[in-house]
Amino acid sequence: MAVTLSSVVPWGRTMSEYRLMFDLSERDLNSRILGCGDGPASFNSEMTALGRRVISIDPIYALTRQQIEQRIAETYESIISQCKANPQNYVWSFFSDPDALGRHRLNAMNMFLLDLEQGLADGRYLNQELPRLTFADGEFDLALCSHLLFLYTEQLSLDFHIEAIREMCRVARDVRIFPLLDLKVRRSAYIEPVVSRLREEGLSADVVKVPYEFQRGGDEMMRIMNPCPSANS
Ligand SMILES: C[S@@+](CC[C@H](N)C(=O)[O-])C[C@H]1O[C@@H](n2cnc3c(N)ncnc32)[C@H](O)[C@@H]1O
Repeated sequence: MAVTLSSVVPWGRTMSEYRLMFDLSERDLNSRILGCGDGPASFNSEMTALGRRVISIDPIYALTRQQIEQRIAETYESIISQCKANPQNYVWSFFSDPDALGRHRLNAMNMFLLDLEQGLADGRYLNQELPRLTFADGEFDLALCSHLLFLYTEQLSLDFHIEAIREMCRVARDVRIFPLLDLKVRRSAYIEPVVSRLREEGLSADVVKVPYEFQRGGDEMMRIMNPCPSANS
């Protein structure tokens, strides 16, 4: 099932959040990384500034900078007011309150917007969408997916999840997905079926605790290891 751009909001996190959400080590940060659905996150721009290698794919990169800015502006109020209306759904340690969250996110998205033109020219921001990627088998060491799979459980089918994860495993031997909660802050109903399907296919799929929790109870990622990416194509 395809998802429309309007049902998945553009909302960007920072490199420090990516490090914690995916429990990235120095070695991980120095590997070849693919970010799936990175949208307006500042992960790519911050990593690039440090001389590291990240390619981000997202259908939002087909839009102009002005169109992305417009979508961020439309999204901003509704997300921050949802946080204000339901503060109990979040852990206020990384951010002290919804306004601090809003400032942090806008700062991340501004970093992305400033880097967009150069990133498009460098081929670091590519207009592609799961569940199909154009990369060669094993082209990356690590594929990350933040706040798309599992979060949009109600919008994206189980088959979409399996296909998307298989495709990430084809291009990278280590795949990490965060969070495992849906938009209603419930554990996604797809976790167990996805783990069993992937294990049946010979991949090692595990739920792993991480040192980041913002959605309450959202302190786990799924890690799928494919020792031989080309065998999964
Ligand atoms: C909530 S944002 C998360 C952005 C970023 N990963 C982060 O955590 O800060 C979800 C992103 O998924 C993107 N998206 C939607 N459908 C997609 C697909 N089929 N393949 C890849 N990205 C998709 C959206 O355009 C949006 O930028």
